[in-house]
Amino acid sequence: MKKIKLFQPYVTSAARKLVERVLSGTQLAQGPMVDMFEENFANEFGFEPWQIVSLNSGTAALELAYDLCNIKGGPGYQPEVITPILTCTATNIPLIHRNAHIVFADVEMNNHLNIDPDDVEYKISEDTQAIVFVHFGGSSAGLKEIEDLADRNDIDLICDAAQALGSKLSTKARFNCISLQAIKSLTAGDGGVLICRDRKDAEKARKLRWFGYDRPLKQKLGDIDLDIAGFKLHMNDISAAIALGNLYDWKLIKYQREAINAVYAKYGAGKGYIEGIWCPQVVGIPYKPMKELLAKKGIEIGQYHYRNDKYTIFNRAENSCPNMTTIEDRYFMLPCHMGMTVEDAERIAKLIWPNSRPGISGKLYAIPIEDYGTMPVTDKEAREKVANMFNKK
Ligand SMILES: Cc1ncc(COP(=O)(O)O)c(C=O)c1O
Repeated sequence: MKKIKLFQPYVTSAARKLVERVLSGTQLAQGPMVDMFEENFANEFGFEPWQIVSLNSGTAALELAYDLCNIKGGPGYQPEVITPILTCTATNIPLIHRNAHIVFADVEMNNHLNIDPDDVEYKISEDTQAIVFVHFGGSSAGLKEIEDLADRNDIDLICDAAQALGSKLSTKARFNCISLQAIKSLTAGDGGVLICRDRKDAEKARKLRWFGYDRPLKQKLGDIDLDIAGFKLHMNDISAAIALGNLYDWKLIKYQREAINAVYAKYGAGKGYIEGIWCPQVVGIPYKPMKELLAKKGIEIGQYHYRNDKYTIFNRAENSCPNMTTIEDRYFMLPCHMGMTVEDAERIAKLIWPNSRPGISGKLYAIPIEDYGTMPVTDKEAREKVANMFNKK
C-alpha cells in the first residue's frame, strides 16, 4: 500500500547541480545566484525585476511588509490591523512584536477558508491601518472583494501569499509575501520573496534586508554611511541555487498541482472541496473520523493551521468569529504534491466522497491531466535550461 504524506518537498536535479556549483565556488553569501533567481522569478510570475526582493523566509517578507506599512505601536498607540483568525501563526506573530491592535476576521466558511469580506467590512474602523489577506492553502477566493475594500477605505493591503505561488496574486496589494520554505510548492529549503507594488518600497526593502546598507554601493565603495537601521534577512546563494533549480520545473509543478486539484474537484465540488494550489481543503466533513479512516489506508490529512486565538499570545486580540467556531472540527487539508499521481488523488477522493458521482469541474479540466498522470516528472527540461545558462556564462 503506497503511503501518501500530507506534504513532501520537491527538489530537482537542476537544483542539486546549482548548489554543487555554489559550494564549489567562493561566493556562498548573497551573490550572482540571488540576482539570477530574482530575475527568473520575476520573469516566471510576470513581475518587473525591481519588484522582487528575495529574503531568507516568508516570515521575513511579512516583517518587512509590516515595517514598511509603519505598523509600529508606541506609548498609548496601537495600530489596528485586520487579519485572519485561521492562518499560520507566522502571519500574526510579527504583529505582536509591533504592538499592533489585532482584530481577527472570520473565515468565510461556505465557499472557502479565506477571510470573509463581509466580516472585514464590518470590522473596518477609523483606526484600521492595514488588512492582511492570507491565501489559505493557496486559494485566491475573496481577494477581489478585499482589494476593493482596501481601496475604497484607503487602507494598506498586505497579502500573505506564502502558500499561493501559482495562484492569482494581487496586483493591488502594497505587498505580496511569498514563502519558499521546505514544503512549499517552490522551495529554497528556507526562503522568501517580498513582491513590492511601489518602487520606493522595493528600494527601502533592499536596504532593510541587509542591515540598512545599499549593498552594491558598499561593495563598490567600501565603508559607506548607514542612514536606516536594517536587519539581516537577505537570501544567500545556496538557497537561491535551490530555488532557481526548482524554478526550472515550475510549469510541471504547477500542472501537477492543478491536475490533483482537478481530481478532487471532480468528486468534491459542491461537497466541501476548496481549490488550493498548495493544499486543497475540505470543509464541512468531521476531521477526526476522516483522519482515522484515511490513516488506515496510509493517507495523511491534517488541519495543520488552527484558529490563532487558541494561543496565549493572541489572548488580547479582538475576536468575534462565529464561522470559525462552526467549522473548528470540520475542516482539513488534503495531500497535493509531486510525490503523488492523479490516481493517488482519485483514491483519496473516493474515500472522502464515496457516494459522489464524478462530475466535470470546469476550468481545471482545460489541463490535460492524463498527460501528467505518470508523475514524478523527469528533469530533462530543467537540465537543458541549466546547460544553456552555463553556456551563457
Ligand atoms: C500562511 C503563511 N504565512 C507565513 C508563513 C511563513 O513562511 P516561512 O516559513 O517561509 O517563514 C507560512 C509558512 O511557513 C505560511 O503558511
